[in-house]
Amino acid sequence: MIAVSLPSSTPEPTQVPVLSRYWDQPESWTLRNYLQQNGYQGLKAALRMTPDEVIGLVKDSGLRGRGGAGFPVGTKWSFIPQGDKPGGTGTPHYLVVNADESEPGTCKDMPLMLATPHTLIEGVVIAAYAIRASHAFIYVRGEVAGVVRRLRTAVREAYDAGLLGRDVFGSGFGVDLVVHAGAGAYICGEETALLDSLEGRRGQPRLRPPFPAVAGLYASPTVVNNVESIASVPAILRNGADWFREFGTEKSPGFTMYSLSGHVTRPGQYEAPLGVTLRELLERAGGVREGHELKFWTPGGSSTPMFTPDHLDIPLDYEGVGGAGSMLGTKALQIFDDTVCVVRTVLRWTEFYAHESCGKCTPCREGTYWMVQMMRRLEAGDATEDDLTTLLEITDSVVGKSFCALGDASGAPITSSLQYFRDEYLAHFPHDGHPGGCPFDPSKA
Ligand code: NAI
Ligand code: SF4
Repeated sequence: MIAVSLPSSTPEPTQVPVLSRYWDQPESWTLRNYLQQNGYQGLKAALRMTPDEVIGLVKDSGLRGRGGAGFPVGTKWSFIPQGDKPGGTGTPHYLVVNADESEPGTCKDMPLMLATPHTLIEGVVIAAYAIRASHAFIYVRGEVAGVVRRLRTAVREAYDAGLLGRDVFGSGFGVDLVVHAGAGAYICGEETALLDSLEGRRGQPRLRPPFPAVAGLYASPTVVNNVESIASVPAILRNGADWFREFGTEKSPGFTMYSLSGHVTRPGQYEAPLGVTLRELLERAGGVREGHELKFWTPGGSSTPMFTPDHLDIPLDYEGVGGAGSMLGTKALQIFDDTVCVVRTVLRWTEFYAHESCGKCTPCREGTYWMVQMMRRLEAGDATEDDLTTLLEITDSVVGKSFCALGDASGAPITSSLQYFRDEYLAHFPHDGHPGGCPFDPSKA
């Protein structure tokens, strides 16, 4: 075992970046460097508390799930049956980190795990201690082999240093952590499909309730949390709930990663307090690419409705975007300028949902297929206004009638694009000598 001596904790400023503060340092992913950056001080603080006190602190911080739904993290932890010891109620408890990041435009968890994997591992040990779990899993997308390797190396370092395994920091608490690579299916990011996949079955969503907190992995109480949610926990343990609440808004406290992609001058990950606006983020990112104007954008990947320049000043928090008729989702801000055809973009997203539909329920399996057929006709200019009505009827038979969130999400691009860009659909129809088809030149996009 490697002896870990920790530097004394210094008060941290209440300013971003927190999660990405050390991303640009050489070999930021090594344990040696992480320990120089207050690494594992949060865990040390947690082990001085009781598990219930840790849950109370995370509840007080107001941290909300960063995977998309924004469910309060401390509340989710408190659903796990409590007892004095890990598995104290007699059944095992599990912690599963959802690292199957796949939402179009979403790319925040992968860089986090590459740059500072120990932030996640520290958060895992703290969360496992709080919910009395002696086994934890990180379920990563199979395609990102480099991330899987980086995580496994960091897990080995943590075991060698006595930060994982039996008797963490000599506290008597022990937890084992397994990094599991998925096989690359979008649906395995749905928490119950992920659990099926982890158990060795084909990943398909389970009926909820029961939620995983009641019957999850191997039918045992299980917390499933997103990577960024768990990686946010060490800083809360180091600095306290009030410190965390100084960032963000009252109902959406804290800092978070926003992913800017598409037609933006400097695409990338931008850490900011919750409640920041796209206008502010675009200023940091150098604006929309030169010579062009913003046409439409998504607040949380393609599963959230598209927005227009009229929405530039909406606070990107769990309440503000809701006020504009959208979930915040994964904070994947995909930026499209005036060269882009809305209809073609929606077709691409619809094809994605049809391809990723797991086929378990009829509305989504059949409906997404027919949505693609209709979108192809519309994009080719081989359709009429009646077809627009049919498309909306098909969409209506999928959204709210499917088994899981994938079916609901598949309708968001269609309904929102028709709300804001109906004229662009009509411009694809044959009219005034125009034979029909896309009026945009894809080589300019
Ligand atoms: P949800 O709102 O149904 O559940 C959120 C979390 O709270 C889950 O962990 C659930 O188990 C828990 N929960 C909710 N009610 C509960 C209760 N009464 N008791 C115990 N636990 C409870 O949302 P869902 O379907 O899990 O996720 C949808 C979100 O996923 C969307 O917002 C979407 O943006 C996001 N998403 C993210 C992707 C990514 O790549 N990160 C990919 C696709 C979707
Ligand atoms: Fe599968 Fe789609 Fe039904 Fe979800 S909504 S269970 S992805 S077929």
